[in-house]
Amino acid sequence: MKRFRFLTEVQAATIEPALSGKDILVQAKTGTGKTIGFLLPAIEKALRSPVRPKGTPILVLSPTRELAQQISTEAQTLLPQSDLRIITVTGGTRNPSTDLQKFLERDHDIVVATPGRLHDYFTGPRKTEAYEKFHGLQTLVLDEVDRLLDGGFARELDGVISMLPKTKRQNLFFSATISNNIKQVAKKYNDGSEYTFISTLKEDEMNVHQHVHQSYIITPFEKHIPTLLALLHLDSIKHPLPHVTTSTPSLSPGTTGPETLSKVMVFFPTARHVSFAMEVLSSESIKKSLPPLLEIHSRKSQSARTKAAGAFKNAKSAILLSSDVAARGIDFPGVTLVIQVGIPSSAEQYVHRLGRTARAGAKGQGIIILDPQEQPFYTTREMQKTTTISPYISSPSSHEAKELETYIQTYAQHVQNTLETVSANNPTVIGSAYVSFLGYYKGQARMMKWSSERLVEEANRYAKQVMGWTDALPPAISPKAVGMMGLKGVRGLNIMKPPRPEREQSRGDRRQ
Ligand code: CDP
Ligand code: MG
Repeated sequence: MKRFRFLTEVQAATIEPALSGKDILVQAKTGTGKTIGFLLPAIEKALRSPVRPKGTPILVLSPTRELAQQISTEAQTLLPQSDLRIITVTGGTRNPSTDLQKFLERDHDIVVATPGRLHDYFTGPRKTEAYEKFHGLQTLVLDEVDRLLDGGFARELDGVISMLPKTKRQNLFFSATISNNIKQVAKKYNDGSEYTFISTLKEDEMNVHQHVHQSYIITPFEKHIPTLLALLHLDSIKHPLPHVTTSTPSLSPGTTGPETLSKVMVFFPTARHVSFAMEVLSSESIKKSLPPLLEIHSRKSQSARTKAAGAFKNAKSAILLSSDVAARGIDFPGVTLVIQVGIPSSAEQYVHRLGRTARAGAKGQGIIILDPQEQPFYTTREMQKTTTISPYISSPSSHEAKELETYIQTYAQHVQNTLETVSANNPTVIGSAYVSFLGYYKGQARMMKWSSERLVEEANRYAKQVMGWTDALPPAISPKAVGMMGLKGVRGLNIMKPPRPEREQSRGDRRQ
C-alpha cells in the first residue's frame, strides 16, 4: 500500500481478529480509519482464497448513497494496481434497469450497496439472478452498523440479509457509536451467535475526540440564522490563507470576504430547513460576505447531491448546508468547523455530525446553536455520557462576546430584508419548512415538554418570527399530514380544505 505507512489504532486492533475469521463488532471514533479497517482484511481474504467458479466475495452495506460511493472509491484507491472489480449499487441513478443489467452481467469482487436498492434487486423480476450473484459470499460488512440496525432500514435489511447464501460468512460490523441495545440487535444478524466486540475507546472515555473544541450558544430561534452567519464570518477570519496572515483581513458583513481556508458544515434538523436556510443565505447581500455556499439533502436530485459533495470535498473553502444525509461516514478533508442549528435527533447523531471535522488527527471545532427550550438536550444522560460542551461565550462582557453580538446585529438586519423577498417570492419554501418543523419537533416534544397545542403555537411563532411569514393564518397543511403527525383536532392549524387535491407532502417531511 503506497498511501499509508502505518495502521491507525482501530486498524491495528482489528486486523488480526478479522484475518483469523472472527465475526467482529467494532467501535472507534469518527475519522480514525474504520473504512480501511474493514476493507483490508476483507480484500486480503478474497485474494487468498478466491471464490470458484465465480461469485461475489465481499458485500458492504452503507446507510447512504454518498457513503457507499466513498467506500467504493476508497477500495479502488487502496489497491490501484489490482484488478479488483468494484460496483456501487444505490438508488437515485438515472437508469435503474441498465444498472441492474450491468450488475447481473458482470462479475464483482466487492459490491457496496445501500439496503434499499439491493432489496429492490432481490425482490424484483430478476431476483433469483440477483441473489445468486452472492454465491460464495465470504464477508458481509455493515458500516455505520447502528444506523443500519436502528429500525429505519429493518425491512430492507432483513430482506437482503435473509436472501444471502446460507454458507458460513464472516461479519464485520463497524461504527463510532454502538449502544448496548445495538449489541443485542447485532446478534440477530450474526445467526444469533456471539461476536467479538472490539472498542478502541478507553474505559470511561468520552466518544468525542479531545482535540475538538465544542461549545453551545443558547439563543431564541429567531436569532439562529443571524448567529450562524456571525459564526461563519468569524471562522473565515480565523482561517486566513497563509499569505494573508501578516495583515489582519478587514471585513464586515456586506463586504467581500478575504480569501480564507474556512470550511464549514452546517447541520439543520430536516431537508426543508436546509432549503429555507439556503434561500436566505444565498441572497446577494449575505452571500457576498461568505465563502461559496453548497447544500446537500434528500430533496435534491442525486446528481445535485453528488455534485455538491464532490465540490465540497475538493474546496479549500466553502460552506455546506446539510441535513443528516451527510452526517455519517463522509470524509471531507479540512473541515474547520461544524455548526449544528437546533437539536440533533440523538446524542449519536450529534457525535457523527461533529465527526465531520477533526478527522485523521486534524484540528476542528464544533458549535451547537439551541433555543432556550432545546437546552434540555445537552443535559440528557446520553449527551453527558458522550461529551462535554461549554458555553461559546464564557464571559458576556468580553471582547469576543461584543464582537459576536455586533456581527449578529448586522446580519439580523440583512436577514430581515431578505425574509421579505423570500416570503413574497417563494412562500412554498416557508410552508414546507413549517410542516417540517411540526414533524421534527413532534418527535422531540417529550424532551422539550411540549404538548401538541404548544407545538403548534411554537411552529406558528417560528413561521412568523424566523421565516417572515406575514399572513394572518399560518401556512396551510394537508389533512393527511396532520393525521400522520397525530395532530388531528389540535387548535391553531390552518388545514387545507378537502376538495383541494392532497399533495404528497407529509410523509417525507422529516426526511433527511
Ligand atoms: O470511518 P472513519 O470515520 O473511522 O474514518 P474514514 O472515513 O475511514 O477516514 C479516515 C481518514 O484517515 C481517511 O481520510 C483515510 O485516508 C485516512 N487514513 C486511514 O484511513 N488509514 C491510515 N492508516 C492512515 C490514514
Ligand atoms: Mg466510516
